[in-house]
Order: sequence, then structure tokens, then C-alpha cells
Amino acid sequence: MATPSSPVNVVTGRHELLYGGDYNPDQWTPDVWREDVALMQQAGVNLVTVGVFSWASIEPEPGRFTWGWLDEVLDLLHEAGVGVDLATPSASAPPWLARLHPETSSVDAAGVRTSVGSRNHFCPSAPAYRDAVVAVARALAERYGDHPAVELWHVGNEFGQECFCDLCAGRFRAWLADRYGDLDGLNEAWGTTFWSQRYADWAEVVPPRVAPYVHNPAQLLDFRRFTSDQLLDLYRIQAAELRRAGGTPVTTNFMGFFPGVDQHSWAGDLDVVSDDHYGDPEHPTPARSALTHDLLRGVGRGRPWLLLEQATSAVSWRAHNVPKTPVQMLQDSLRAVAHGADGVCYFQWRASASGSEQFHSAMLPHAGPDTRLHRAVREQGAVLKRLGAVAGTRVPARVALVFDWPSLWASELPARPSEHLRATAQLEAYHRPFWEDGIPVDVVPPDADLDGYDLVVVPSLQLVGDAAAANVARVPERGGVLLVGPFSAVQDPTTRVRTGAFPAPWTGVLGVAGEEWRPLPPDGVAVRSDAWGEFTAHVWSESVAARDADVLAAYDGAGLAGEPAILRRTVGEGEAWYVSTVPPSDMLGAVVRACARAAGVVAPVLDLPRGVEAAVRGDVVFLLNADDVARDVTVPGGAEDLLGAPVAAGRVELAPGGVAAVRVSPSGR
Ligand code: GAL
Repeated sequence: MATPSSPVNVVTGRHELLYGGDYNPDQWTPDVWREDVALMQQAGVNLVTVGVFSWASIEPEPGRFTWGWLDEVLDLLHEAGVGVDLATPSASAPPWLARLHPETSSVDAAGVRTSVGSRNHFCPSAPAYRDAVVAVARALAERYGDHPAVELWHVGNEFGQECFCDLCAGRFRAWLADRYGDLDGLNEAWGTTFWSQRYADWAEVVPPRVAPYVHNPAQLLDFRRFTSDQLLDLYRIQAAELRRAGGTPVTTNFMGFFPGVDQHSWAGDLDVVSDDHYGDPEHPTPARSALTHDLLRGVGRGRPWLLLEQATSAVSWRAHNVPKTPVQMLQDSLRAVAHGADGVCYFQWRASASGSEQFHSAMLPHAGPDTRLHRAVREQGAVLKRLGAVAGTRVPARVALVFDWPSLWASELPARPSEHLRATAQLEAYHRPFWEDGIPVDVVPPDADLDGYDLVVVPSLQLVGDAAAANVARVPERGGVLLVGPFSAVQDPTTRVRTGAFPAPWTGVLGVAGEEWRPLPPDGVAVRSDAWGEFTAHVWSESVAARDADVLAAYDGAGLAGEPAILRRTVGEGEAWYVSTVPPSDMLGAVVRACARAAGVVAPVLDLPRGVEAAVRGDVVFLLNADDVARDVTVPGGAEDLLGAPVAAGRVELAPGGVAAVRVSPSGR
């Protein structure tokens, strides 16, 4: 039983998890709304996101607002006990705005202005768009700021669009002038002596529009930063209107590792972080989902977050849209909860009959409530109801995985040594052993407070600033374990290569001196190790000397015979490890587990069977059995299953596809 002082839902302040989806009542008639709220109640739905794409229904003509339908819907939802996440509709302006103000539609890198008839066609700089966005946000806030149904405000949708128009070019110049002071500063930061790119006048500086050959990398990176800041500004002008109406929390829905915005720089403006996550049921990647959830929790500095959108079954935007099984549907939601979500919602409540998403799954399919899918939706509602005590609790991670958006952007720039060394793939590879063992991991930026972590892993951080690099370097010095992957810290924030031996800011702490990056031919290279035997590494190798480190594995081929591949330096009580290649996953797993052991980090479950996923949140160990056979799992100290299965001496039996949420007694561990 939850006690009054125990953690509460990050949005509602109650002992409950949130469950629901996007709700688009303006696509339906009032009799359907009544059926909807009755079915929502039966399914245990307690939060719906309303109005994301309703601008034309709210404001059919400039300045004329039609509230009647929305008044009625919010009242109906409130009477049924369903809370509302009420959205500003800025993601899709009505066609009248583009007719009256063509400059409000965005322009692509080739100079083509986008058209109405889809969504997201806005230019974030256009004054007429910004004015209209503020006006509709203000009108919504004034009308519904006190409405008892509204538990959360939702700004826009999945920010991340780019615009290359002249208005954006003007704001880009102002942004650059602010960052670099003057043109000399810009020329220096962008290294414009290269290819005679030196700018003599601000008017010459433009977004990275279509050009004959590779763009200046610093220009590309700064346009990413600028776009993120522009969109943040667009978020802020709407959030400010909503906040004027009272203390209801404000969010917007991010998209995992999507490169569109630097979520870390946005986080301070969100009262609760939210994400949309659409794994592919045809090729399930639960480990990647878990990593993405850990990322979002990290964006909110460990606070609970919301999974605002996922699919109950098939989406409609892949080439071939395979449905989810009910087991996948439930496990996807519980994985999010286990990794810190205080709510799991879907796109969308009722499947649309018209429009571009008419073949997308929903909580209530076209065929109605008496369907396999809707029964699974109801069953999930019942499961989530039993997990209310989990709301508000934290994930007790002692391991940090370091990641940030500027480094992701750098890793996607053209003209790098290899396109095959990918930041997100590296992150996944280093995260996977922890996921396999059920060990909680936070994904944090390099300037985060790392003191609480016994093990800090930097899988691939191509670009890093001096202060953040020093922050990371302190880990072994204060007795922690640091594990660094290849091609890290090679550039400063302007994309300038840090010259000298690499990784320049960390050669001291790692005890290594790198001199050459050596992407590998397809066969890879043999690596020999006393500890881990012989294996073949692929994609990447480096010529690195051990200055003050033990060589744990050495190359045997590819022109690197005998040179170190994996090194470890002992630093007082701490350790610093460097992996200069991409080992196969079992070998990398062995290295990562050796680091975990050195850091004293242990798995929460004994001998976790293959096919069973474990994750710890608060004092609860979640277990998800993806296999079609029953599995026994022992959780040391496991006292009870919040979902009702018997637990004896920490042992719980999971049915095929079964799930459990085993609470560990404080004395039991
Ligand atoms: C999301 C979007 C929703 C819906 C959904 C379909 O990206 O926010 O509005 O389009 O995809 O999967």
C-alpha cells in the first residue's frame, strides 16, 4: 500500500500510473464521444491528449474561435474521470494561414517552399506564424486554464523541423553573432580559410542550403544548434501563455534519439519530459527501447517521464506494417514503466476513418470494442492499475552512459573516417550487457554530475568541450571506473580537431597516446587477449601506444600486429579503460562486465534466463518473459509480485510471455 509520504505521479500527484492516448474527437460526432468516454472508463484510461492537430477546428477563420465542441468534450471527459493533456495546435496550421501569409510555410534546403495538405509545414521564424501560435495558445489557456479536466499542457508535436528560408537565415545570422561576437569570431570558429569560405559580410552567411559538394562541418553543426534553439524559442512562447493560466505542468513530446533538437538543452523548460517511441514489431529491439527510455529519463535528470505515444499494434508509415502481439504491447508498456515512465499512452484512442493515418492501429480499432486488440487494451489498463505504487519512484542507477546531441550530430557529419562507426550503434552496444543483466543505467550528458556513479561509460563521444572532458576525466581520480570507446573526444565544440595524440583531453587519465584512426577492411582484424582469448573486431581500429596502461588485448593483423587494442590504467582506487576497436558483442560484453565488477556493480537477479528481461525501479524488479516457455526467476529479497503471482524465497514463475513486478523487501537483499 502506498503511504501518504511515498512517491506520487509526476503529473497528477496521485498514486497512479497514467494510461491513455491521443484523442481526436473533432474527427467524430458527439454520439461517438459518449461511446468513447464510456469505453475509456472501462479500459482504465485516465489521460488523453486532446487538440494536437485541432487548430482548424478551434480557429476555422483568423481570430474566430469555436469552443463549443471542445467545451463539451472536456466536460464529458472530466465527468468520466479522464484527465486531459491539452495541446497547443502549432504543429499544423490551417490552410488559411498559408493563404494569407505564404511565408509561414517552411522552405527546404533546395529552396522549395512546402505546401499545405500535410502537417509540420511551418517556418519557426515567420512573425505571422509566431503571432498566430501565441494567439491560439493564449486563447486555449484563457478558456481552459481552470478546467478541472486539464492535468497537463502539451506544446506542439515532435519538434524537429528545419527551415532554410530567408527569415530563418536572418535569425541564424543573429544567433551566430550572439555566439561568436563578430565575423572574425565566426570565421575562426568555422575554419573558413579552408576552401576560400571566408565571410566578408554577414549577408553572405546562409543556412546550409543545397551546395555542390560537402558543407563546412561547423556550419552544419551550428545550424543544428540554431534550429534546436529556434524551436525551443517557439516552444517557450507557447509555454509562457500556458503558464500564465496557472500551475498546470507543461510538456512536449520528444522522439528518442531523433537528431532534431538537443533535448538536454530543452529539459529545463519542461515540467515533465515526454517521449514518443515506435519500435518495429517485425524486428523487435527491446534493448534499444530500454536504452531510449534510459535516455529520456536522463533528459529529465532521473525524474519520472511519460511515454506519450506508441502503437498498440501496426503503424502505417513503414513500407510493411506488421502488427504487435498483445504480449509485445503489454511488455513494451511495462518496459517503459520499469525504466521510469509514470504514464504509458498511445497514438491514438480511436482509429481514424479518414486522413493519412487511417490504417494506423489505435486503442479502439475500426472493428470496435469486441476485438482482440481492444481486449488487450483493457487488460493492460487493469495491469497498470495494480502498479500505482510505482509512480514517482526512481531508477537506482550506479552506471552512467555518456551521450549528447552535439556529439550525435558530429557523428552524422559527412566526410568522417568511417560512416560505419555510428554513435547510436556504439551506445547500444555498450548498453546491451547492462540490459541483459538487468543492471540500471542512466544516459547522461558529459557535463552531468557524475559523482553518484561507480561506473561511467563513454561509448563514443566524438565532440566534447573542455569542461565536460575534465568532468569525465575526474571519474577514476575519485575512485570510479571509466570506460571509453573509440574515436572519442576528437573534436572541440566548433568541430575543430583536437591536435596531438588522441583522445587529446584523456590521454593522461587513460594512459594512452593514439596516432592514427584505421577503419578496417570487411574481414576485420584478429585481436588476442590473455583474458578473453582471440576474437575478430570489425569496422574500426586505432594505432595507440600504451604510455601508462596495461595492455589487455592486442591487435594481430591489419598493419597493427602487437599494438594495443584494449587498455586499462589503474588510478589509485579507480580504473580507466580504453577500447580502441569494435569488439563482437560477446567480447564487448565481457569487457563491460569486467568494468562493472571492478566498480562493484551487481545484477539484481540471479542467473537471469535468456529471453527474460529484468529492470529495476524503486524497490521493484520488473521481469518480462519474451519467450514462449515458462521461466523461473529468482530475485534476491523478492517478497511479493505486485501483479499477483506467488513469490517464494524470491522465486517467481513467469508464464510464456508473462510479466511480474517483484517488490524486494528492504531486509531481504
Ligand atoms: C507520431 C505523431 C503522431 C502520429 C504518429 C503515428 O510521430 O506524433 O501524430 O502521426 O506518429 O505513428
